[in-house]
Amino acid sequence: MAKPKVFATHSLFESARQILQETCEVEYWAKPERPSREEVLQRVEDQEGLVCLLTEKINDELLHAAPKLRIAANVAVGFDNIDVAACTKRGVAATNTPGVLDETTADFAWTLLMAVARRLGEAEALARSGNWKNWNLDQLVGTDVWGKTLGIVGFGRIGRAVARRASGFQMKVMYTDAVRAPAEVERDLRAEFREMNALLAESDFVSLHVPLLPETRGLMDAEKFHRMKPTAFLINTSRGPVVDEAALVAALERGKIAGAGLDVYEKEPLIHPGLKRPNVVLAPHIASASLETRTKMACMAAENVVAFFKGQRPANILNPEVLKG
Ligand code: DGY
Repeated sequence: MAKPKVFATHSLFESARQILQETCEVEYWAKPERPSREEVLQRVEDQEGLVCLLTEKINDELLHAAPKLRIAANVAVGFDNIDVAACTKRGVAATNTPGVLDETTADFAWTLLMAVARRLGEAEALARSGNWKNWNLDQLVGTDVWGKTLGIVGFGRIGRAVARRASGFQMKVMYTDAVRAPAEVERDLRAEFREMNALLAESDFVSLHVPLLPETRGLMDAEKFHRMKPTAFLINTSRGPVVDEAALVAALERGKIAGAGLDVYEKEPLIHPGLKRPNVVLAPHIASASLETRTKMACMAAENVVAFFKGQRPANILNPEVLKG
């Protein structure tokens, strides 16, 4: 029997290719730059499977261009690039890669937190510039992290992994979420529940860990920045549109908050020019980018595809209602 045809919009990693090759005939996008939308729409025409990155919009337009498509496997936990309802309507399975990137993403939220608090971006630029003249008592003084209050918005797996790391810094940890965590989780992580506004008012660092949903889009708006301490920092490794970027820029310009550490942006890869300030640490959406984790993500997506074509339930199915039986 012919193997199902799959298009992968990235060459993935060798271990993921090994998983796919057993069951599928795969065409890989091998160029270093991302394929254009036109390219993707052309390539999917004849495919039954698609392994995609969050740069591809899986919507009606794409589904229309791919009439034979049966599964779209995202190599990301966030799936705001996938119109799951549209997939379901056409009987196309959609999958993501939860769990494998939690710790790595939490590490990076902390990387940004430490970097912005201790002015690492400015310090590194000075050290490399050749303009560092001497040690000085008040040179590049930043803000202590240890002993401060960390506010976590969104207390799922990644939010909790961020909280776990705070104990070594003797921080007070608070969180907010639509659903309160079980008492034993609060106890283990020494995390106290707060309503959003109270969390914003008390935190020295506010770290965002919510998925992008209609109710979280623009969650951090002018009013929320107004509630934060002028000495507090915002950290975002979730999704750019969770923050109203214009409001963030205004808050930074007016000193409503002290700074920000950002990995994600409203209109990636564009970065609002007003964010390119010394008190903002910027990264190009790399929170999960360790070789170990990106390899696991690719393998997980590959396993989802293989399971599907073997007639099994993919472990990370987002719309199980499309599965037969
Ligand atoms: C995701 O998985 O959603 C990240 O943004 C990329 O790791």
